[in-house]
Amino acid sequence: MPPTPPLRMRPEPVPVAVLISGGGSNRAAILAAARARGCPYRVAVVVSNRPEAGGLAHAAAAGVPVEVVDHRPFAGDRACHEREIEARLRAHGVELVVLAGYMRVLTPWLVERWAGRMLNIHPSLLPKYPGLDTHARAIAAGDAEAGCTVHVVTAGVDEGPVLDQARVPILPEDTAETLAARVLAAEHRLYPAALARVAADLRT
Ligand code: GRF
Repeated sequence: MPPTPPLRMRPEPVPVAVLISGGGSNRAAILAAARARGCPYRVAVVVSNRPEAGGLAHAAAAGVPVEVVDHRPFAGDRACHEREIEARLRAHGVELVVLAGYMRVLTPWLVERWAGRMLNIHPSLLPKYPGLDTHARAIAAGDAEAGCTVHVVTAGVDEGPVLDQARVPILPEDTAETLAARVLAAEHRLYPAALARVAADLRT
């Protein structure tokens, strides 16, 4: 009988922080995917700048630690607010940060601390339509397709290197709302998959 091969140590999943400001449907998709066996990441903490964010209760119900760092008491002092976020991320041993509907522009200070380790999803096919109202702009331009982009966060808003994109058709009867719903469904598939690839790369 051949000798039993030694058990290979499976590397631990990469601890991820998900930053939200609202309902966090991408946060939900990322959490759901983390439950799959062998997922290369785990959600170590969900952080919100809004105490009323619906995604907090869902995450807590799923047994995920949550942190609220309300920006309002900081009265516009972004640096101070971000230092507090940074402290919470480090306290949870985070190695990778994902923005999932986090509605504040980050300062270069926090972005640089997480250079190459902070991801965002944007609801357009970047470099088209950075910023707001992406779906209405795509329809107004007469585009045949829209989509979403996962990218590395850099100091420029929606400018970092693209990791992956998903495309959806724009239908003649589409409104910004119907298109947004189609794009969001694509986001929920794209973001966990892109995150898993980045986490798997970090482990090797
Ligand atoms: C998504 O469309 C995402 O692309 C954008 O903000 C929205 C967040 O949605 N950055 P949710 O909070 O994940 O539901």
